[in-house]
Amino acid sequence: MLPPQCRVISSCAVIRGEATKGTGTATSPVAQSQSPLGRVGVAAALEEAAAATTVANAEGRKGPTLWDEFSLRDRVALVSGANRGLGLEMALALIEAGARAVYCVDLPTKPGDEWVAVAEYGKRVMGTRGGRLEYVSADVRNQEAMWKVGEEIGNKEGRMDVCVAAAGILRSHTDCLEYPAEEFQEVMSVNTNGVLFTAQAAGRQMVRFGNQGSIILVASMSGSITNKDHAWVSYNTSKSAVLQMARSMACELGSKGIRVNTLSPGHIYTSMTAAYLDKEPHLLEKWSKLNPLGRIGRPDELRGVVTWLASDASTFCTGSDILVSGGHQSW
Ligand SMILES: NC(=O)c1ccc[n+]([C@@H]2O[C@H](COP(=O)([O-])OP(=O)(O)OC[C@H]3O[C@@H](n4cnc5c(N)ncnc54)[C@H](O)[C@@H]3O)[C@@H](O)[C@H]2O)c1
Repeated sequence: MLPPQCRVISSCAVIRGEATKGTGTATSPVAQSQSPLGRVGVAAALEEAAAATTVANAEGRKGPTLWDEFSLRDRVALVSGANRGLGLEMALALIEAGARAVYCVDLPTKPGDEWVAVAEYGKRVMGTRGGRLEYVSADVRNQEAMWKVGEEIGNKEGRMDVCVAAAGILRSHTDCLEYPAEEFQEVMSVNTNGVLFTAQAAGRQMVRFGNQGSIILVASMSGSITNKDHAWVSYNTSKSAVLQMARSMACELGSKGIRVNTLSPGHIYTSMTAAYLDKEPHLLEKWSKLNPLGRIGRPDELRGVVTWLASDASTFCTGSDILVSGGHQSW
């Protein structure tokens, strides 16, 4: 016997995905869009419950679970700045979520020892279900080179699904009234122009293959707040620009099914922040006290959020900034 709520809902056109009459729209909300996995969650449960009354001896369907929505099985990704640090951490997360191939773009002609060890580890933990990390040497400041990188990945893989633009630089303290033009330009060139060129490289392939996709631009909490006592005007400006870049791109690309969001970390210990923390150890306590959790973050604390943004678990999320900062900006 069908539970009462299903008896009501199974007769509802919205749940059946049929056209709604007299609303002035051609389709019902359900017909307008559904998860790439078909019915999931409550709709899947109710569909199954409804089918049990009408189909004799109906066998239970094993519907997709939440983990299927997070799966990146067979997806292809491009991650810039992924020879080390947050880029490498996120590249490995995408492999662990099932991606077929993750192309790690960075400056050195050959990947570092850390990258090689991570690529081997990825193969080991994923075994036969696993994809591969590939290394590509390129400079994100070079638009032509980046478009070519994207095109070559497209030629080889026949699709492009995910982009994480993580390459970035932070320079030493410099008084904002004295900031030299050349250095300001250098930071903007990597952190802003380079992010655009990386997003273009992947986005052009997403359009070429029509497989939609998710573009994740790594900004920073420094795009929205100013780090107390740090004279980082170039970095903060470059990250603010990335926040607006993502909103602009999200609006342009939404109709193509391409989502664009920013991921804004707070303080996390990597080579970038080691340049400060290792030289001035008192900064660890200072930075830790600036957020409600009372500590700085670990690179692995971006694994879940990047997988969520890259996957079908976030299909209605675009033009958003996701802060992962221990709550730094809440105070
Ligand atoms: N670590 C943090 O606390 C923190 C906080 C907020 C935002 N971020 C951002 O996260 C991203 C990754 O930072 P990270 O902490 O891993 O730093 P990192 O210095 O460890 O890694 C940055 C990577 O970008 C690469 N890169 C730099 N210039 C490049 C170029 N022109 N072309 C290609 N690659 C280039 C570097 O070689 C390096 O491998 C950056 O965009 C950074 O601004 C970091």
